This record gives sequence, structure tokens and C-alpha cells, in this order.
Amino acid sequence: MKNFLYFLTVKECESHLKQEIALRYPELRYAYSRAGFLTYKIAADHEIDNLEVIFAYSYGKSLGKSSKMNFFSTLESILKEEKGEVLLNTYVDIDFHLNLCEYLKAHPKIISEGNKASAQSVVLNIIKVDEDEYFFGSHLYGKNRTIINDYAYAAVAEGENTTIPSRAYHKIREALLLTKEEIKSGDYILDVGSAPGGISYYFLERDAFVVGIDSAEMSKQCLMHKRFKHIALPIEKVRAPEFGNHPFKIMVVDINLDPLFVLHEIRRLFTSVKSCSEIRSLYFTVKLTQKFSMDKLPRIIKELESLGFVRFLKKQLQSNRNEFLLYATKGQRKIVSKRTWSIKG
Ligand SMILES: C[S@@+](CC[C@H](N)C(=O)[O-])C[C@H]1O[C@@H](n2cnc3c(N)ncnc32)[C@H](O)[C@@H]1O
Repeated sequence: MKNFLYFLTVKECESHLKQEIALRYPELRYAYSRAGFLTYKIAADHEIDNLEVIFAYSYGKSLGKSSKMNFFSTLESILKEEKGEVLLNTYVDIDFHLNLCEYLKAHPKIISEGNKASAQSVVLNIIKVDEDEYFFGSHLYGKNRTIINDYAYAAVAEGENTTIPSRAYHKIREALLLTKEEIKSGDYILDVGSAPGGISYYFLERDAFVVGIDSAEMSKQCLMHKRFKHIALPIEKVRAPEFGNHPFKIMVVDINLDPLFVLHEIRRLFTSVKSCSEIRSLYFTVKLTQKFSMDKLPRIIKELESLGFVRFLKKQLQSNRNEFLLYATKGQRKIVSKRTWSIKG
């Protein structure tokens, strides 16, 4: 007997995901795909909760699909099968999501808020893959998979919220939720490749101090903020005295250049700038440029290990495009992927 797994990715990373699965889990058999949505056949006894996949922001066990007409009857029969509590998570239009929440709010098995979920909670995912096609799937809560309800609907409101300088705001929000990083008032953040300023602005909103490095123009919201300092130069031209004596806690690097060049600059900052020596966490957006191939990733990790980083998370986020997040921390939290792998392309 076979089961099916589904994987969610962004369209820019579909071919990377296919390559990754073919290399790391060759036993999975490709079955079906829609934009950003792929299913694979898997043996019924295959372990599924601990797959390590970089290029899927979420994956789980497929529970079947339905048209609009059969949607609620399919949903009811799926919920009937679930033994424990269920957290609802949807990838559908916001209006449909809100209607669904309303419909399910009194359901005895549904817990509506993520903070009431435990590691045993089942996340029921509802994914609209086509005009009249909805997929149902589930996975356990957590396990480095992002939960859309926590953040992604904020992206819908992005157009309305004119104070957000760029969509990178959502990128850092999603990354911080995933890594459970706490930002405290007064923290110092170094933001490299900071223009126009979505990431800086996210930290400023949380009462942090931000130094942004980018020769491109920063948005007014950041430039006029009293806790923001702009160094309007490319990173390779910035020298130690310009960083001041701030005790940086987090470094974000979101530069649209070859990751190995960026790594070279990260190394320079860690080894020659005193105020960078205390940095605990690094959020590095690895751009999938023409020059870059995934077999260079172990080298990047090794270099970061030599700078004192001990834990790593490699994950494509829902708000990433042709890139993925490489999170490195000196802390002890266990969110590690130990498997190494290489892939061209
Ligand atoms: C994806 S955008 C960054 C978005 C930004 N993080 C935000 O929150 O809005 C990439 C940025 O990298 C910057 N960049 C390119 N080369 C750079 C370099 N050598 N040093 C610093 N920034 C660089 C570009 O000017 C561009 O603003």
C-alpha cells in the first residue's frame, strides 16, 4: 500500500525541490504537480515526519482532494478520522480562510490558535491548487515547517500597509518565527544589503537599534528613524571604525550577489570588526545565482563553523523567491540538519 506526500514550494524553486528529492529521497516516486505544489508516492511504512528538505517550506501526508462542491463533506470526513486535536492551516484566499474559520470555530477537534498546539497536534493543511481543486494534507505541529496562519496573511495586507518599505519585511518575520528568535528592546542589529528597508523596519518596530549597510537608497521610514543608522556604501568598502562600538546581536545579510562573495565579507566582519564578535545569530539569504550551485553549501557551513556557529537551519521560506534562508546560531537550540548533500543547478 502506498501513501502520498505533498510538498509546498515557490515556483522559482520547483526544479530545485525536484532535484533535492531525487537525490536525497530517491525512493519517493513523483506523482503530480501544480504551481508550487508537488505530490510523491511513498511506501506506507516510510518515516515521514523527519524528512529534511530545504526547498519545501512545508510538506506532509496527503489526505485527498476535493472540488468546491464536495469541499465541506470531504472536510467533515477527514476531521472524523482525526483522533486528537487539529490546528487548521490554509493556503487559500483570505475570504475563504475566514469563512472556514467561522464554520469550524465551534468544532470540538479544532484548536484555532497556534499557541495552544503541542508537538502532538496535527496540522490540517488545506491547499487551493487550482480554481476548483483543494488538497487536504496533514503533518505534526512544528518540525521546521512554517505555518501560514502565523504570518502570511500579513502579506495580503502589505499593499494596504504603506509603512512597510519592502516585502523583505515578511521574509524576516517568517524567519524569526521559524527560528523562535526573540528580539528585545535595545538589541543591536546589523542589516547588510538593507535597502529599501523592509528588514530594518521590522526590527525598528520592535524597538531595536539597526545599522543598515547598502549603497542603494533607504526608505524614509528607516532614514528618519532615530534608532537607525545608514552606512551608504557597499559592504566591501566599509571598514571597522564605521561600525562603531555597538554590541551587535544579530546579523542579517540579504545581498543580491554571489553567496561565496557574500561569505567572504561575512568572514571579514567576524574576524576584523570587534562589534561583530558578539553576534549570536546570522540570517543569510543565499541567492540562487547562475554562479552558485548547492554543492557549495557544505563549504559555506564549514566556514561558518570556523567562525563559531554551531547550529544551522537551511530552509526556503514561503516569502523567499530565488533564494533560501541559511540561519546559523551560536546558541544551543536544536534545530539542526546534520545531513549534507550536494546538488548542481
Ligand atoms: C534583496 S535587496 C535587499 C532588500 C532589503 N533587505 C530590504 O529589507 O528591503 C538586495 C540589496 O543588496 C544590495 N547590495 C548589492 N550589492 C551590495 C554590496 N556589495 N554591499 C551591500 N549591499 C549590496 C542592493 O543594493 C539591494 O538593495
